[in-house]
Amino acid sequence: MTIRLDKFLSTQTSLTRSEIKKLLSKNKILLDGKPIRDGSLKIDTKLSEIVLDGKKIAYREKVYMILNKPQGYVCATEDKKEKTIMELLDEKDRRKDIFPAGRLDKDTVGMVFITNDGELSHKILSPKSHIPKYYIVKLAETFKNEYIQKFKQGIEIDGGEVCLPAVVKPFEADENTALLEICEGKFHQVKRMFAAVENKVVKLQRIQMGSLEIPVKLGAGEYMEIMHKDVEKLLKQPCFEVVYSRIVQNFSSYWINKQSEVCENNDLNRC
Ligand code: URA
Repeated sequence: MTIRLDKFLSTQTSLTRSEIKKLLSKNKILLDGKPIRDGSLKIDTKLSEIVLDGKKIAYREKVYMILNKPQGYVCATEDKKEKTIMELLDEKDRRKDIFPAGRLDKDTVGMVFITNDGELSHKILSPKSHIPKYYIVKLAETFKNEYIQKFKQGIEIDGGEVCLPAVVKPFEADENTALLEICEGKFHQVKRMFAAVENKVVKLQRIQMGSLEIPVKLGAGEYMEIMHKDVEKLLKQPCFEVVYSRIVQNFSSYWINKQSEVCENNDLNRC
């Protein structure tokens, strides 16, 4: 594929258009070993070698990363007031065309999928695709077994919206904690589902999307690139009981079981 040199640089790096212009005018960009000043020049994404400040920039059309979001960051590409999850990425990975596929609240932690693949993102997020997302939910009050049936039927949340059927199961080791499977992502959905049964979410961690789980070894604020076979897992529906058994076995490794911070965002009208 051929594209303009300035387009190549703007999609593959975090440089702004004016920074690119400046670097070109200062002969800082080398094309196959020679400095280039003309950003409109067409280059071959596979064959041309582009070097910026001594570093080779490899072309990657699609990128797929998973991030273990800590508390205090918003899932957005830009925000005037808050720290965004993009700030957790190394400079070299902060391309301008990437975005989080689905949002977690500022106080929610766990798995965020970051990509520039709009089509895949739509597939993962569309309720029609039925791709489950798994959350460990810590509640203020003891879990009641009646939630299981209510969530299965499709619970009505404030404002009259009805959720798609969801699966929930408490952990034997902790009567305030449960695993929840939902296939959609309404605004503050998990918090509103539990508010509808007169409980309150105090900690929330997303641990899996489709069949792809967040590796336990990925620390808060860390991220990793994922390969094609793992990207495919995002679109596969696992068995709830299999996910549940794995979480129960590894329960002590999860953030939700270790940290003391609680969700601060329980005013559900606020963003
Ligand atoms: N549901 C919520 O209430 N918050 C999240 O961050 C994700 C799902």
